[in-house]
Amino acid sequence: EDEAFLAAFQRRIDAEEKIEPNDPMPEGYRRTLIRQIGQHAHSEIVGMLPEGNWITRAPSLRRKAALLAKVQDEGGHGLYLYSAAETLGVSREQMTEELLAGKAKYSSIFNYPTLTWADIGAIGWLVDGAAIMNQIPLCRCSYGPYARAMIRVCKEESFHQRQGYEIMMTLANGTPEQKELAQDALNRWWWPSLMMFGPHDSDSQHGDQSMRWKIKRFTNDELRQQFVDSTVPQAEFIGLTLPDPELKWNEERGHYDFGPIDWDEFWRVVKGGGPMNKERLEARQKAWDEGAWVREAALAHAEKRKARREA
Ligand code: ACO
Repeated sequence: EDEAFLAAFQRRIDAEEKIEPNDPMPEGYRRTLIRQIGQHAHSEIVGMLPEGNWITRAPSLRRKAALLAKVQDEGGHGLYLYSAAETLGVSREQMTEELLAGKAKYSSIFNYPTLTWADIGAIGWLVDGAAIMNQIPLCRCSYGPYARAMIRVCKEESFHQRQGYEIMMTLANGTPEQKELAQDALNRWWWPSLMMFGPHDSDSQHGDQSMRWKIKRFTNDELRQQFVDSTVPQAEFIGLTLPDPELKWNEERGHYDFGPIDWDEFWRVVKGGGPMNKERLEARQKAWDEGAWVREAALAHAEKRKARREA
């Protein structure tokens, strides 16, 4: 790739032009997008597991219907994202194989267990809240198919966030035992939610280049700060306490200061050593194996139709 090509590409990016699948693009740009969109797709699919765990135990028909719809939405998001990645020349089979082989990452957050019903509230409120914070700017990502997929995804995530917050609000206003469940879930999900935004900017390997290519519009730390700033008043409103003694409004910065993140825990979870990593991959492997006959039947059907058309 010569410098003139790279410079011409950067000028298109700087002019806010969208890059489309058949446009020439630097190999690094393509690779970065395949990595990020693939990881994002896997996160949506693996993300169905912790909540799927509670569908049959939701406390009312209304809660069950909402949770079922939300988990289905996540499956849909995974499919749009695999399709967006496929426009870059990788196949869904390849991406799935990399996930199952432990080579492709998915979000660290989905390696924590959902122990009580309140965890479903905490996930909707915090995990989907963090996801939206990260994904709204992706609607302006320089790669067209990814940006367009994000628009619908964000609308649905916003419903997910509200259903979670409403569960937390109901529990927080309930009996002392219910309030305790909500607080316990918040205590366990708060720090992992902050880790979702990725390492500090100084340790973010891809951050600078992705900002230049306008794949990312904000850095990991900027989005994490926005998330903290918007979540603190939400916690106050429902009378729950964020588990961080160092959390404090900083008048000078115009932001909340917060305590240190346990990066050892983050990397342990990212590298496969979290509480649920093994179970999550086993569940995906089982689904892949048990779906083999569906893939074979769909292919055979497509072949038959093609042969009939050509006859
Ligand atoms: N969980 C697992 N891995 C992570 C996480 C995380 N929370 N954060 C960063 N990483 C990985 C990166 O993938 C990268 O690893 P790699 O080089 O092997 O691919 C490494 O840590 C270093 O991080 P960065 O250089 O900062 O990576 P990047 O620039 O890609 O930023 C981020 C990470 C912010 C997650 C980005 O990829 C992104 O915005 N992705 C799209 C959103 C997304 O995937 N959301 C998933 C959760 S939301 C949901 O599914 C509901």
